[in-house]
Amino acid sequence: MSALLSAWCLLLLGLVGGSSALHIPPHQDVARVARFVANQCDWASMATVSTHDPVRGQPFSNAFSVSDGRLGSGCGVPYLYLTRMEVSVQDLQVNPQASLSMSLAQTDYCRQEGYDPQSPLCAHIILSGSVVEVNGTEADFAKDALFTRHPEMVGWPADHDWFFAKFNISMVWVLDYFGGVKTVTPEEYFKASPDTK
Ligand SMILES: *[C@@H]1O[C@H](CO)[C@@H](O)[C@H](O)[C@H]1NC(C)=O
Ligand SMILES: *[C@@H]1O[C@H](CO)[C@@H](O)[C@H](O)[C@H]1NC(C)=O
Repeated sequence: MSALLSAWCLLLLGLVGGSSALHIPPHQDVARVARFVANQCDWASMATVSTHDPVRGQPFSNAFSVSDGRLGSGCGVPYLYLTRMEVSVQDLQVNPQASLSMSLAQTDYCRQEGYDPQSPLCAHIILSGSVVEVNGTEADFAKDALFTRHPEMVGWPADHDWFFAKFNISMVWVLDYFGGVKTVTPEEYFKASPDTK
């Protein structure tokens, strides 16, 4: 599946993303909503299991820049640009399991609609899974996805030994409407059309 996914990501590499006014997919198309949120957000809160005293063993949530591709044509895989000098990445070296949270509260959408960030109408997603280093053609895709949306990364200090990683999704949790959280399998998530029109 991973080879298929990276092939899909590489296919998208050639496409030009059309950014448009935020037009969220219908809430019952839960997998599409998840893909939409994952593509719109430029950053995510990532919780790791801390390896640092005095909170060793406790959840530790931290902000990371992410990208699943150009705006409007994401492949669904959140890519990250990381250094082992970073506190949460040190946790991941011990335990790669993590949780990534993204919300349309990070865009203008919820403010414009008058939705509080905790309202389910302000669509947000939680990804469960693990962080996995990527290299080769997938790292090339990750670099394009990240550096086009985070141009400042180009100049980050070379001696920090940056590497590309992906969030390897095991489950997607979606809050996009009343009635409680909905779950989407990775298969459903990656099958969903990233096209929002
Ligand atoms: C590619 O990444 C994997 C981990 O995903 C690693 O085990 C392997 O050594 C890497 N290969 C190179 C050439 O860096
Ligand atoms: C990705 O996660 C799945 C579980 O959802 C796991 O079986 C697989 O080994 C992981 N892949 C890597 C490269 O860690």
